[in-house]
Amino acid sequence: MTPHNNARPGDYAEAVLLPGDPLRAKWIAETFFEDAKCVNTVRNCLGFTGTFKGKPVSVQATGMGQPSTAIYVHELLNVYDVKTLVRVGTCGGLNTRVKVRDVVIAQTASTDSTIVKDAFGPYNFAPAADFGLLRAAADAAEAKGLTAHVGGILSSDIFYHPSGAEAYARLMAHGVLGVEMEAASLYTLAARHGARALTVCTMTDCLITGEEIDADARQTSLVDMVEIGLAAALGV
Ligand code: HPA
Repeated sequence: MTPHNNARPGDYAEAVLLPGDPLRAKWIAETFFEDAKCVNTVRNCLGFTGTFKGKPVSVQATGMGQPSTAIYVHELLNVYDVKTLVRVGTCGGLNTRVKVRDVVIAQTASTDSTIVKDAFGPYNFAPAADFGLLRAAADAAEAKGLTAHVGGILSSDIFYHPSGAEAYARLMAHGVLGVEMEAASLYTLAARHGARALTVCTMTDCLITGEEIDADARQTSLVDMVEIGLAAALGV
């Protein structure tokens, strides 16, 4: 048990999906898992364990942003011996090729977060996804006939940036596909502790055109994203 998690050792499966929203974690457990049981209730940042296609799997909410994500990920890796972490979330679009509802599979995650920025002395660490998970997710998306983009994203610490998309302009000019707030810390901690990590996002709001996902499409897209995340995490 930790200050943030009242699960006991062994309560989490080796593979864990990581949505930001606790109610989305509950929805994933109720919709996709068999024999789901709640393993963490601290701060209502819910975690569940069950099976999917006969394989043990967990889901743990991370809350929003890299500091919160880093707490849950650090503890899952160090206290609960988790080996595979797949974030399932949403991102803002930074590239005209990426349309609302498209899936973005984050090969790398650039960031302004101090979690990565100041941790490597003179170097800038490059937070990157596990290639096996990346390939499995891309294959799963293709098998579903979905438009999936594999490439770099930005994990920003600032949602309401005072200079808006201008702040991202240089990264956009370098082909960055979208912006969210968690993947870089996830990839960095997974690398530090020898685990596998991936981020799969649905693009919900384009920062270039202002287009946003509607409520119905949001739900369908969430299902697709979770199915891709489960296929990658469990190899099913
Ligand atoms: N910025 C950061 N994170 C996000 C966004 C965004 O525009 N959309 C969805 N997650």
